[in-house]
Amino acid sequence: MLRVRRITKSDPLYAQAVDLRERVLLSPLGYNLGRFLKEYPGFEDRLEHFVAVIDHPKGERVIGTVCLRPEGKPGQESTGRLTQMCVDPQRQGEGVGNMLLSALERRAFGELNLPELYCHAQDRAMGFYERLGWTSDGPGFTEAGIPHHKMRFRPEARPDLIGTEQIADEDLSAGPSVDTADHQL
Ligand SMILES: CC(C)(COP(=O)(O)OP(=O)(O)OC[C@H]1O[C@@H](n2cnc3c(N)ncnc32)[C@H](O)[C@@H]1OP(=O)(O)O)[C@@H](O)C(=O)NCCC(=O)NCCS
Repeated sequence: MLRVRRITKSDPLYAQAVDLRERVLLSPLGYNLGRFLKEYPGFEDRLEHFVAVIDHPKGERVIGTVCLRPEGKPGQESTGRLTQMCVDPQRQGEGVGNMLLSALERRAFGELNLPELYCHAQDRAMGFYERLGWTSDGPGFTEAGIPHHKMRFRPEARPDLIGTEQIADEDLSAGPSVDTADHQL
């Protein structure tokens, strides 16, 4: 059965999520996690990690992942950034990305009470976000050599996301808050 879980970096599934990010997102841009951590110090520590998992004879297998970074002063977060969204190429087009996005939105609006979300969407993926009510904001720009647009989402567009039950399997300890960084992968 396909399900979405929120995990910490100490969860065994974190390594699978990193492997997927490296294969689908980072390595096409010339990155691995080591270079990512070095160039964006502190970024990974502030992320909440969501994984889409299926059962496998050898244990749970991660087939998709996405991260949420609340931004602003602790307790007064003014926005949240969606980042590192990717689905195993062999499982794309099956609704996995949709499930991950919905889970992240429920966490952001139903639990953290964030007023809005944003992301830097690769142009080729904009249609994916638009289908769930996200809108582009401002002119396109190049990030990591690839055309992007900033996209935003406010919960008024989806009242069903507010006040939903917690989806987390594990509780995340709150790390230090960081300011918005506009040019991270
Ligand atoms: C973009 C991505 C996360 C989408 O995940 P997915 O599991 O394939 O998406 P889903 O199957 O949940 O699709 C949900 C809807 O979005 C549509 N969709 C998916 N990818 C799309 C794209 N690139 N452009 C336009 N629409 C897209 C699907 O057709 C589907 O529409 P429907 O509900 O009308 O049937 C995935 O294709 C991916 O990992 N791509 C490579 C990495 C990447 O580009 N990440 C995003 C960086 S900003």
